[in-house]
Amino acid sequence: MIITIDGPAAAGKGTLASKLALKYNLTYFDTGMVYRAVGLDVVLQGKDPNDEQSALSVAQKLTFPRIMELSKHQDFRSAVGGDAASKVSAIPSVRAALLQMQRDFALNPQFSDGRKASGVVYDGRDAGTVICPQADVKVFITASSEVRAMRRFKEFQQKGLTITYDEVLAQTRERDERDASRSSAPMKPADDAVIIDTSDMSIDEVYKKVCDIIESHKKILEK
Ligand code: DC
Repeated sequence: MIITIDGPAAAGKGTLASKLALKYNLTYFDTGMVYRAVGLDVVLQGKDPNDEQSALSVAQKLTFPRIMELSKHQDFRSAVGGDAASKVSAIPSVRAALLQMQRDFALNPQFSDGRKASGVVYDGRDAGTVICPQADVKVFITASSEVRAMRRFKEFQQKGLTITYDEVLAQTRERDERDASRSSAPMKPADDAVIIDTSDMSIDEVYKKVCDIIESHKKILEK
């Protein structure tokens, strides 16, 4: 089974996708990590993430072990990593270079310890539209920019990062704008995705709603 969870930053995709993966015994693929790895690698080389040649040369050599290595860096999940990821992800040639590794994962899904999995929960922006248009269940989750900025702000505070709410809100809006307006695979719901606005919902409510969607899908398959 393939499930895609797409949507803007801090909509709650990661928490939802990992809970679903656990419940249905599927592996979880956070595709944002692919772009964060490229963006951070470019920044660590002292180059500009808007520079196509620098980003493309990193993207063409990217491997899963390299992503895991970079994910341990302090800036991988920080605003620096997020901003660099958003910039490299707007470059069409970079997206093209990273597409196959994301698609191939569904052909031979594995857990992080190497065990074979029966399917994948993708978390991203274009999982349902570009990476896996054949997915069984597609969900697009969103929330107002204020609610998402507040969630990110609290995460940053817990990690001890010094940043104000207004700065996080400005970054959230800037990233939304870039993700939605890029020419290649702009962030948008697939035509057959269920759209859920989580602004006034708890994570448990969202989780329950998506589980119901998956269960109805399974019933249709069994008929
Ligand atoms: O989900 P995230 O915050 O880790 O994503 C980081 C950036 O990567 C985000 O600004 C958009 C980009 N991204 C993308 O363009 N396509 C994906 N499938 C996943 C992430």
